[in-house]
Amino acid sequence: MGKQCIRIGVVGTGFGRYHMDGFGKVDGAYVHAVCDLNEEEARAFADQYGAKYVFTDFRKMAAMDELDAISIAVPNCFHAPIAIEALTRGKHVLVEKPMALNPKEAEAMVAAARKAGKRLMVEQALRFKEETQLLRAYYDRGVFGDVYFAKSTWVRRKGWPKLNFPPGGTMGRGEWFIQKKMAGFGALGDIGVHLLDLAWYLMGTPKPVSVTGMMWTKVAVAQLKKKKLPCEVDEMAAGTIRFEGGQMLTVDVCWDAYNEPTQKVRVFGDKGGASLFPAKVYRGEDIMETTELSTTFGGFDTVDPYEHFIDCVRNPKLKCIASGEENVQLIKMLDGIARSAETGKEVRLT
Ligand SMILES: NC(=O)c1ccc[n+]([C@@H]2O[C@H](COP(=O)([O-])OP(=O)(O)OC[C@H]3O[C@@H](n4cnc5c(N)ncnc54)[C@H](O)[C@@H]3O)[C@@H](O)[C@H]2O)c1
Repeated sequence: MGKQCIRIGVVGTGFGRYHMDGFGKVDGAYVHAVCDLNEEEARAFADQYGAKYVFTDFRKMAAMDELDAISIAVPNCFHAPIAIEALTRGKHVLVEKPMALNPKEAEAMVAAARKAGKRLMVEQALRFKEETQLLRAYYDRGVFGDVYFAKSTWVRRKGWPKLNFPPGGTMGRGEWFIQKKMAGFGALGDIGVHLLDLAWYLMGTPKPVSVTGMMWTKVAVAQLKKKKLPCEVDEMAAGTIRFEGGQMLTVDVCWDAYNEPTQKVRVFGDKGGASLFPAKVYRGEDIMETTELSTTFGGFDTVDPYEHFIDCVRNPKLKCIASGEENVQLIKMLDGIARSAETGKEVRLT
């Protein structure tokens, strides 16, 4: 018997074009409708991917009986309203990161998914990288033992959306990226959400209990003013999170800094440890690097996020690698860093 056919509506044609490309490669999945405020662009992508319908209003798309799932890649402030509308209309949802602007929205999305009995997955793309999955598999086998500390950093130089990033312009095109009302966060929600998530994932997603953090916007201020661009969101954010079992995670991210561009995640356990970018596992006197890691592990399969989402839709019992439910905790940690930066105090999450 062939695989159950899944028809998808994609909202947003910036990063959404990678969703279309991803679903286009999954057996039995079809991009059936495309929605964007820019109708011409939506039509061009619909033609490219063989989608039958084009919309400029997501409500009309969500009302379509023919769709099984909706994939959301629009400014962050529309994630919750579109996801809730789609779930209420009985569609499964894949939504871009950051899942929502705040914990209240994230919780409402999860409640809508529960009520509808539909899947809600978050496109935490870096979780699905082979190297991340490999390290997580080592974690699951207990190779690191008790993980007590993790440290994550992503330093960009000249990485302000709209000002000097991204160079190619196929995503991150909207000025919304640097408007607080629409983006919610700056560097913290854009790249911090990835790096914080990676470290947390490799610690086994322990329950966060308290957060302290700071945020700054310093380096690009003069340039933003000169170009008459808003200067409302964090350029740099740093935070420390404590977890229920006594673990701690520190994270720092920035779009611009007078420092060396870096991307690194480190995990410290009492039997072993790991680092990412590139992936390495430290155990006893041994250090294993990426190729050696997959051969040593044996039978390791990579997971594609779009294929995984479709598998989750087809099989309600399959454990989702990036569920909305788990992602609520991530939004609480981001929000905790922002609130601590605002108040100068530690924020309790429990
Ligand atoms: N997972 C990743 O690595 C990754 C990478 C880039 C972007 N993203 C995320 O993807 C989302 C979109 O970012 P982007 O880079 O594509 O932004 P973008 O500004 O390049 O594109 C956004 C698109 O959404 C459309 N749009 C805006 N409001 C809409 C609405 N109400 N209904 C329908 N269409 C609407 C715009 O017309 C535009 O085409 C963001 O949440 C961002 O954080 C994720």
